[in-house]
Amino acid sequence: AEGLHPADHPFPQKNLFGTFDHASIRRGFQVFKEVCAACHSLDLIYWRNLVDVAYTEEEVREMAAEYEYEDGPNDVGEMFMRPGKLTDPIPRPYPNEEAARAANAGALPPDLSLITKARHGGVDYIYALLTGYCDPPAGVEIREGLNYNPYFPGGAIAMAQNLFDGVVEFEDGTENTASQIAKDVVTFLNWSAEPELDDRKKIGVKALLLFSTLTAISLWIKRNRWQTLK
Ligand code: HEM
Repeated sequence: AEGLHPADHPFPQKNLFGTFDHASIRRGFQVFKEVCAACHSLDLIYWRNLVDVAYTEEEVREMAAEYEYEDGPNDVGEMFMRPGKLTDPIPRPYPNEEAARAANAGALPPDLSLITKARHGGVDYIYALLTGYCDPPAGVEIREGLNYNPYFPGGAIAMAQNLFDGVVEFEDGTENTASQIAKDVVTFLNWSAEPELDDRKKIGVKALLLFSTLTAISLWIKRNRWQTLK
């Protein structure tokens, strides 16, 4: 069965000339780090990618340094642990798929880097999924270990509800209702899947200006050239 159709929400980046809300990307990364990263990887994003997008370089260096990474071999051929740096990827929760499945009753939490592009319905689907958990309708039995979510195709999802009012505390004072938290993490995940979106929109505006000017000039030249012949 297909999942319920998600509601269409007014994310600014959806508009023709709209760009990301960067304060929301910043809060969304916090949600990812504090909630989702316990189970989901974000393989395509490196710490340095967050610089000047949602955090200052100094802030990102500090966050990266809170994690340990294996490096080496050193002069004597040994691997060693060192604090993270800008060039490291966002750390993965599990070393491999087997470990991920073992920790999630057999289900595999997908990498979230491209998830807003990979799922039908995009940001609206992910938002609806995160906020859409409810009791199954009368007569619907959900197998032990699965959870009912009408937006998930099939209705029974291995991921339990993670977002509740107050699960994160935002430093900018934004209210931390479950729906606000979901909106922010979805904005962050949209950025991770389309980090070029803002630049693309800006270039689009410039291209429109440039080509409409060139069109106007060529029409004017054409009129001048042909005027005497008509
Ligand atoms: C699946 C997002 C937190 C475990 C998924 C999917 C998304 C997602 C988009 C894919 C759904 C689909 O296939 O259409 C998130 C976000 C989180 C979060 C944004 C944080 C707010 C977690 C946590 C866990 C977890 C903390 C583990 C405790 C899983 C598992 C699946 C999954 C096991 C696979 C479900 C299945 O295929 O039945 N998640 N997740 N997730 N997630 Fe999460």
